[in-house]
Amino acid sequence: MTRAGVFGTDGMKRMAGAVAALFIVLATASVSGEALAIDKLEKGVPEAVTDIWAIARGGQLYDKWWAVMEADAPKTTHPAYPAAGKQKGAATWRCKECHGWDYKGKDGAYGKGSHFTGIKGISGATGLDANKLHDVIMDKTHGYTGTTIPHSAMEKLVLFIGRGQVDMDKYIDRQTKKARGNPSRGGALFQTVCAICHGFDGKTINFGDDKEPEYVGTVASENPWEALHKIRNGQPGVPMIALAALGDQDHVDILAYAQTLPQK
Ligand code: HEC
Ligand code: HEC
Repeated sequence: MTRAGVFGTDGMKRMAGAVAALFIVLATASVSGEALAIDKLEKGVPEAVTDIWAIARGGQLYDKWWAVMEADAPKTTHPAYPAAGKQKGAATWRCKECHGWDYKGKDGAYGKGSHFTGIKGISGATGLDANKLHDVIMDKTHGYTGTTIPHSAMEKLVLFIGRGQVDMDKYIDRQTKKARGNPSRGGALFQTVCAICHGFDGKTINFGDDKEPEYVGTVASENPWEALHKIRNGQPGVPMIALAALGDQDHVDILAYAQTLPQK
């Protein structure tokens, strides 16, 4: 397997100094067209890990990479985050913060409001060569290094960007936020797959607090793009399933059903 199979792990950030420097060299050298790095230190991950699994994991990294890697959150505001932007600190290092849950940046849902940055999305990067993507993510603007986002994680991000995106405008009406799915089909999926953790009404887990509760129904209706991203890829850093191996229509049907659930 690849060199990253030996060196790479999402927990790599703990490596320091000379070892980290060596890693960067290896990381740059081994990204081209080689088979997917297998992360032996990642608990229970088998030898023959599937692309779909790695893509979904890349989607979680896109969401909040340090939560996936159980690393500390960045303490600064990202240098490329526009001064006029409303966010600050760790949040500004999340890929989704500049490029959007719908992958369309300023041309999507983040084209206005408190998450506006004026930065373009990643949808144009679909299908780009893995080396090119790697270089973009590691460029000066982005400021990620082999220590913040180690090679094995970078490979998964690259896979997600190259192959894991969907055109959300096809599935979610931008104006009404309504999912273009079949809620009764979605209901069967939700009740058999999601309810075990979130409850039949989606209210077992509160993502907000007592004063401002946030449930599956809340997120599905208020931020359907985020909900769709998470239905496909899972939630970083917690045991939640990813449904990337199912079809787009399954995801959208679940979303349509989740939009019928109570929001408070
Ligand atoms: C603080 C803002 C910010 C964050 C966070 C950020 N990016 Fe970017 N990204 C940019 C800017 C700025 C560009 C260049 C856009 C341009 O050329 O107009 C860019 C460009 C890109 C492109 C190329 C898009 C294209 O079509 O050319 C990709 C791919 C990309 N970023 C991936 C990522 C990934 C993956 C992450 C998270 C690990 C990330 N970005 C986090 C600001 C950000
Ligand atoms: C094995 C348990 C489990 C299953 C199954 C599961 N989830 Fe989750 N889900 C979680 C946990 C845990 C969280 C994180 C809660 C937190 O951060 O407070 C979460 C978070 C979420 C969030 C993100 C909320 C946010 O704002 O960050 C959404 C949306 C969501 N789940 C929807 C679903 C849907 C839809 C399904 C079915 C396709 C599903 N989940 C299946 C455990 C699960």
